This record gives sequence, C-alpha cells and structure tokens, in this order.
Amino acid sequence: MLKIALIGCGAIGSSVLELLHGDADVAVQSVVVPYTTDAINATVQRWAPTAKIASAVGQGAYAPDLVVECAGHSAIGEHVVPALQRGVPAVVASVGALSEDGMFAALEAAARQGKTQVQLLSGAIGAIDALAAARIGGLDEVVYTGRKPPGAWKGTPGEKECDLDSLKTAHRIFAGSAEQAAQLYPKNANVAATLALAGLGLQGTKVELYADPGVTENVHHVLARGAFGSFELTMRGKPLAANPKTSALTVYSAVRAIRNRAHAVSI
Ligand SMILES: NC(=O)c1ccc[n+]([C@@H]2O[C@H](COP(=O)([O-])OP(=O)(O)OC[C@H]3O[C@@H](n4cnc5c(N)ncnc54)[C@H](O)[C@@H]3O)[C@@H](O)[C@H]2O)c1
Repeated sequence: MLKIALIGCGAIGSSVLELLHGDADVAVQSVVVPYTTDAINATVQRWAPTAKIASAVGQGAYAPDLVVECAGHSAIGEHVVPALQRGVPAVVASVGALSEDGMFAALEAAARQGKTQVQLLSGAIGAIDALAAARIGGLDEVVYTGRKPPGAWKGTPGEKECDLDSLKTAHRIFAGSAEQAAQLYPKNANVAATLALAGLGLQGTKVELYADPGVTENVHHVLARGAFGSFELTMRGKPLAANPKTSALTVYSAVRAIRNRAHAVSI
C-alpha cells in the first residue's frame, strides 16, 4: 500500500482523488492545502474520506511514501523541497516552475540530500519518453508549437500582439526560446518547460505560440530531430469532462505516475 500526501486540491488534485478512489494499492494519507474550503472538504469527504486535510506534509511516523504536487510554483519550495530533503520521493506537476532561476538546482540538491528522487510529470504533453531517450544519442533540434483559441491568451502579453477578439486567422504571438516563453507566459510554461528539460534545455528549445481562431482545443505540436532520427507529435488536449478547468491528460499522467509506484507492474 502506497501512502501519498497530495499537495493541492484544485482542478487537478480533486480529479486525481476521484480517479484514485477505490484503488486498493494507494492510500491518500493527507491533502495539503494552505487553507481549506467547503469544496475541498466535500471533495476529500467524497473521494478520500480517511485522508487528513493538513497544512504541511506529515513527518516521522506520519511521513508519506510519496508526495504528489498539483498545487503551483509556491508549493515546490514550501513542501516538495523539504520533503525531498527528509528522504520522501516526490512527483511534480508544476514543471513550469523549474524555469525559474535556481529552482531545478534546488530540487536536485534536495533529492540528493535526502537520497531520493523527484519525478517530473509529463503532464499535458506526450512523447517525453522518446525525447528523453533520444537526448542520449544527441538532439539537433526541438521545436514546440502551442496553439490555443484566442480567448485563452487573454491576460497574457499575447493581448498586445493582436486584437484577440477579432482574429480571423492564426496569429503568432511568440517565437523564442523555452526560457523566454516561461518568462513571458508563465501560466503556459508547463509543456515547454517539460519538453526543454527532457530535451535540449530551456535555451536550446524553440517555442512558437499561436492565437488561433481555428482551434477549440489546446493543440501541442513537437518536432524533434537528432541522431535517433526524427519525430513529430500533434496532441489535441481535451479538458477533463468532470472538470473543464484542467486538461484530462495532466490528471491521467499524475494518476499513472502514482499507480506505477504502487502496482506490481510499471508502464
Ligand atoms: N505539467 C503540465 O502539463 C500541467 C498542466 C496543467 C497544470 N499544471 C500545473 O499544475 C498545478 C495545479 O493546477 P490546477 O489547475 O489544479 O490549479 P488550481 O488553481 O485549480 O489548484 C491549485 C490547488 O493548490 C493549492 N495550493 C496553492 N498553493 C499551495 C501551496 N503553496 N501549498 C499547498 N497547496 C497549495 C490551492 O489551494 C488549490 O487547492 C499548476 O501549477 C499548474 O501550472 C501542469
């Protein structure tokens, strides 16, 4: 039985709880949030009634076997780094946070200190296994192109690039490195950062972002070339039916990572 501490109980965390419900190999020991709400109380009561709602990850006799972060950038420094230092392994959904200066090094140092490991979730993007394997033979180019409906770029610097409300054709709102993309579009940084960390790094990975009235879903395209050959991947991510605020694949990727640690066969 794998005892987990789930950090965050928003769009992703609550859906993870629902999907883990009934898995005899996983026990949600605690749900860690800065403060609770009626919605969080109801979700935990419904899907993980034996879990404690807490403001910190348990220690000593109460330490979990695995910390699962689905909370946001601040939770990494606040909960994931100290848990790793104490030897508790972790899986992280907020991979975009690792674009921040020193964050990747801090996680790595914490895991080393605790003689444990931190796993970065593939989240909303696929082919991370192929990309990370291809890197071993040498990569020449990785280009990520992200397309979203114009309205999805409201509140970002994309608003200054074009009139999002009247776009009739796709408009490129950003072209640059994954590092620059993370600085300008931090809320959209997860996929580019994941591809960068698996492949050519934040400076070496090219990113293009489009506001596209022709799409209704988030469309991710990856082109990678290197000694292995090349691949292209197009993903049209759907929101989770039970919770349209999050991408279905991100939730499934977190549940997969947990199950892979709990079940006898890992794939
Ligand atoms: N890797 C990917 O492809 C991918 C895709 C989507 C989202 N994400 C990331 O996953 C994270 C969660 O996304 P969401 O849609 O569930 O967000 P959300 O806002 O719906 O929920 C966040 C939850 O975390 C809690 N929280 C916030 N700060 C916390 C802290 N310091 N300690 C403990 N709990 C804290 C909040 O109370 C809330 O319950 C975000 O960082 C998001 O960027 C990653």
